[in-house]
Amino acid sequence: MSELCYYGDPVLRKTAAPVSVFDDGLRALVEKMVEALRNANGVGLAAPQVGVSSRVAVIDTEYGEAPPYVLVNPEIVSASDETVTEDEGCLSLPGISLDVKRPAQVSVRAQNEKGEEYTIENASGLLAKALQHEIDHLNGILFIDHVSAVQRGLLRGKLKKISAGEFD
Ligand code: NI
Repeated sequence: MSELCYYGDPVLRKTAAPVSVFDDGLRALVEKMVEALRNANGVGLAAPQVGVSSRVAVIDTEYGEAPPYVLVNPEIVSASDETVTEDEGCLSLPGISLDVKRPAQVSVRAQNEKGEEYTIENASGLLAKALQHEIDHLNGILFIDHVSAVQRGLLRGKLKKISAGEFD
């Protein structure tokens, strides 16, 4: 059985709460998220996607070949004016992919699972896309929110099925 939460689950629309305690519970959550991400062969996962409304995300652009980024309380501190439009998907919306326009580069400040602050400067490419996508999750925003109402309308059938738990 999947440990993931899917479109239609209200937890995905909540603004996640900041983390203030860096304890074993947090580290267990991060471990569970990394495992779920690997099981799904995904690039990124946010805590609401495993049913926890906390500001925690993991990103692995190397598919297990390097340690994942652990982002606690992440914040975008700067974004480029230049944008890119790229194909995007989400583990909580299986079977849907859409072109999403976002800033091409972002810098992000976050804490790790020990509470140590770090910055990712001028991320680009897949990492930039994943950072923005996962931080969106912590604010209750899904990638389908970035496309036009017309495009979203075309997905109505698929979204209804995901909400009803009818997907592979
Ligand atoms: Ni997602």
